[in-house]
Amino acid sequence: MFRELTLHDEKFLARITGSSVSQIRAYLNEPVSTPAFAEHLRNAREEFHKVAITSADLHARKVLFQYAAVRALRPECILETGIANGVSSSYLLLALQKNGCGHLHSIGLADPAFLPAGKQPGWLVPQWLRNSWQIHLGDAREILSPLLTRLQHVNVFIHDSLHTYDHMLWEFEAAYPYLNSGDLLCTDDALWNNAFNDFARKAGTPEARILHGVGFLRKIS
Ligand SMILES: C[S@@+](CC[C@H](N)C(=O)[O-])C[C@H]1O[C@@H](n2cnc3c(N)ncnc32)[C@H](O)[C@@H]1O
Repeated sequence: MFRELTLHDEKFLARITGSSVSQIRAYLNEPVSTPAFAEHLRNAREEFHKVAITSADLHARKVLFQYAAVRALRPECILETGIANGVSSSYLLLALQKNGCGHLHSIGLADPAFLPAGKQPGWLVPQWLRNSWQIHLGDAREILSPLLTRLQHVNVFIHDSLHTYDHMLWEFEAAYPYLNSGDLLCTDDALWNNAFNDFARKAGTPEARILHGVGFLRKIS
């Protein structure tokens, strides 16, 4: 189903996760081949249709790349900013469930602009994926740093909250010290401004690339 990555991209994803290209390809196909998850996506699509939400892409490639990276890396702790309906959270939690380990912390505003009336951030995440999930409602500017201090170490950090240059750079700089060598920093919409490229240059890692708009950076120190 999924053949939009070039071999070059697949090799990059495989390299930064210590996996093989064939394994990455298998992971990319996994969510739609998981009956309960595929059914959940079908139901969610109907739900979105009813409330006329067209902005959430339930089969977004960006999320699949992150899914594959999480499957390959088997992280103990993922921290994402930007929950909205919970599309990325659902995929990340499915990856953790398949891994049989790990925890997802998601920070997000309860911003009605991104949600159907009466729904809470992350409403889309099915009950059977919620065991490994902790939601932190609030502004990342206020709660990201205290949460990082509490967690002490994050294996995968994913930005998908406010996509301004200043905010993205601020989140990257806040989270990076909490990653160890080999850990991953990702960002959605990396092409909207130069924050990811500038940060990658400053971090000095050769393992940074933007795949279909998603920035991936492997910390090497
Ligand atoms: C692009 S959406 C996230 C999409 C989500 N990752 C998904 O896949 O469904 C961005 C979200 O970030 C939230 N947001 C914006 N600024 C924020 C901030 N400063 N702190 C926390 N969340 C923020 C918005 O309310 C919105 O829900």
